[in-house]
Amino acid sequence: MLDQAELLKLEISEKVKKYYELVHAGREFVPGETRIHYAGRVYDEEEMINMVDSILDFWITLGPYGDKLEKGLADYIGVKEAILVNSGSSANLISISALMSDQVEDRILPGDEIITPALTFPTTFAPIIQNGLIPVVVDCELGTYNIDTNKLAEAVSPKTKAMIIPHTLGNPCDMDKIMEICTDYDLFLIEDACDAFGAKYDGKFVGTFGDFSTLSCYPAHHISMGEGGAIFTNDGDLAKIARSMRDWGRDCYCRGDVSFSGACGKRFEYKIKLENQVIDYDHRYVYSNIGYNLKPTDIQAAMGLAQLKKANLFVEKRNLNFNRIYEGLKNYEDLFILPHWIKKAEPSWFAFPITIRPGSKFSRKEILKFLENANIETRLIFAGNILRQPAFKDVKCRVIDGLDNSDLVMSNAFFIGVYPGLDVERISYILEKIGDFVKLKHV
Ligand SMILES: Cc1ncc(COP(=O)(O)O)c(C=O)c1O
Repeated sequence: MLDQAELLKLEISEKVKKYYELVHAGREFVPGETRIHYAGRVYDEEEMINMVDSILDFWITLGPYGDKLEKGLADYIGVKEAILVNSGSSANLISISALMSDQVEDRILPGDEIITPALTFPTTFAPIIQNGLIPVVVDCELGTYNIDTNKLAEAVSPKTKAMIIPHTLGNPCDMDKIMEICTDYDLFLIEDACDAFGAKYDGKFVGTFGDFSTLSCYPAHHISMGEGGAIFTNDGDLAKIARSMRDWGRDCYCRGDVSFSGACGKRFEYKIKLENQVIDYDHRYVYSNIGYNLKPTDIQAAMGLAQLKKANLFVEKRNLNFNRIYEGLKNYEDLFILPHWIKKAEPSWFAFPITIRPGSKFSRKEILKFLENANIETRLIFAGNILRQPAFKDVKCRVIDGLDNSDLVMSNAFFIGVYPGLDVERISYILEKIGDFVKLKHV
């Protein structure tokens, strides 16, 4: 028999479902009037019911939903540990910071070098600077928009300790070459898989190759927690350090309610050395790392859990939309560099990137304005060449061999959406408008 509280919960869930159907479900598409977003939340009553359930439980901080989501995410890609955080940016920051912990053998030290591409997202690059490290900046390839792996070997110096490499827009990097360099030169690898949930390389999920990998659950991404993200690792010791970094740097790994003696069984036996004496100190207040607080709430995890159930469907729909756009733009290959991917890569597309070929009769600004006027949202490929951005232009770094491709992407590339909220009608409208633009320019 259900008790009164459970019955009330059921009633609330029914009402939430009705509210979803009334207010949020299926919006009609009116060509030219309805805005076609490049990305957005795709959800139904399940996300809302989970979140309401979490509020009714009133755990608030990371708790039961967080545990389930961490396990679900780790199982999905096939790694030992997932650690939830409040953003993909935080995941990148923690990954680099954790590899600098004095608990890591042959750790990264201030002044060491980290290899990374110039074409990037700001908070993939920023943690290198924030941790007092030196970026070694490598150009990207056109079409894949990933780091040019042919330049990796020459990028390595005796000071190089790691790589942080994004799978740009969900397109897997050449992991054979990256792993070879990491093994040959004994480098740590952080895969920024923030845009690439569900992508595979050689049959294996991206995010399973690196010492750490990172995920963003911002609403534009494959699965969302509102704001959120995760760190993945197969290394239990690294996971413990990353959790500590996320949780104020504390040594204690107890969750929520702490039993009298704690998970370690010796909560009150920890020793701290003062000037002339050694004292006992509650493990909950022992700090073994210089950390942050970058946790999400259980309400966010509740949303993420409902999204994870839809992950396969989302990835399928994104790739289907990508293929439709690709087919539609094939005739314009003389004008646009269309995306491509390497043989072992199975992308999970975040968006559809397009580069206007150099020497074209129209500018990027013209096509962007035309599409935006037609209510089709466009975006640039993040920061472009990060070293051209105001905040990063004077950072101390080592540049390998010129960054011409990254500059070209910065001046000529953009992307349009493929997210699961787009359907055949919307994609056809996007293609029709690109066709109209090309005709208008008589090219
Ligand atoms: C490649 C990449 N890394 C990191 C991030 C940061 O993720 P978040 O927005 O969750 O902080 C993004 C965001 O889009 C991204 O595209």
